[in-house]
Amino acid sequence: MAVVTGGGSGIGLATATRLADAGASVALVDLDGDAAQRVAADLDGIALQADVGRSSAWPGIVDAVTARFGGIDLAHLNAGVMTGEADITGVTDDIYRRTVGVNIDGVFFGVRALAPAMTARGGGAIVATASLAGLIGFSPDPVYCMTKHAVVGLVRSLSPQLAERHITINCVCPSIVDTPLIDDLREVLEGSGFPLIDVSAVSGAVVDLLVGDETGQAMVIQAGREAIAFRFARPPGPRTGGTVGQMPPPGMAAHDQG
Ligand SMILES: NC(=O)c1ccc[n+]([C@@H]2O[C@H](COP(=O)([O-])OP(=O)(O)OC[C@H]3O[C@@H](n4cnc5c(N)ncnc54)[C@H](O)[C@@H]3O)[C@@H](O)[C@H]2O)c1
Repeated sequence: MAVVTGGGSGIGLATATRLADAGASVALVDLDGDAAQRVAADLDGIALQADVGRSSAWPGIVDAVTARFGGIDLAHLNAGVMTGEADITGVTDDIYRRTVGVNIDGVFFGVRALAPAMTARGGGAIVATASLAGLIGFSPDPVYCMTKHAVVGLVRSLSPQLAERHITINCVCPSIVDTPLIDDLREVLEGSGFPLIDVSAVSGAVVDLLVGDETGQAMVIQAGREAIAFRFARPPGPRTGGTVGQMPPPGMAAHDQG
């Protein structure tokens, strides 16, 4: 049984379709309740209208899905928005809060609510949709870039503790994907010959992660290439006498030194 946020459109719709085709029951969670309903009708799933950035939405999501399907095994925390603003002085409080709310809070509140439900099933798998903008600077939308870096950091930080619960957590980091999110940019992108990624490449990578054993990975997805795990460089360590190779003390264990 799988929960897909932002399942009414684009990447979420593609993942939900792929999962349903493989025999999974799907719950589509979307702010756009009509879109979620249409997809749910097509896939014989359920639709839940919700703002994933509100923590208060999540207990209801988990309860509704558990009541209908008996539990939750898989989740694609995918809902996200761009600000459309490169100039930081043009980012209003509303745009900022909405973007941080969906892109960061929606993933954090989602994982926090879903982990106990998956633990009750003996384990599970979570994939968040980050972005290539979570791995590079992206000056056309700095706030979007910030939120996607947060998703990558959260995924890498949570993987050890979720592994103890037999839950994998990974993220996908696609470059620009052909979905309604980029409708305003499509003409410019196509005019410049920038290669857009077909949504099926992203949904394929998401499902591979959901059914695989890897955890804590950020999978880069580029047009015409296989999805590939990003290799993070090690930052320099301390060079104070006697500290070479020293790890932070127990209690603030650095789980991920990769
Ligand atoms: N399209 C791209 O080029 C691209 C590239 C990298 C990453 N991404 C990421 O992929 C994810 C999906 O984007 P997409 O391209 O499929 O976009 P999309 O606009 O086609 O779909 C996003 C869906 O999320 C829903 N949504 C928005 N705010 C929500 C909220 N608060 N609560 C619940 N649902 C909400 C929308 O209603 C929509 O159905 C996003 O996180 C986006 O940042 C997209």
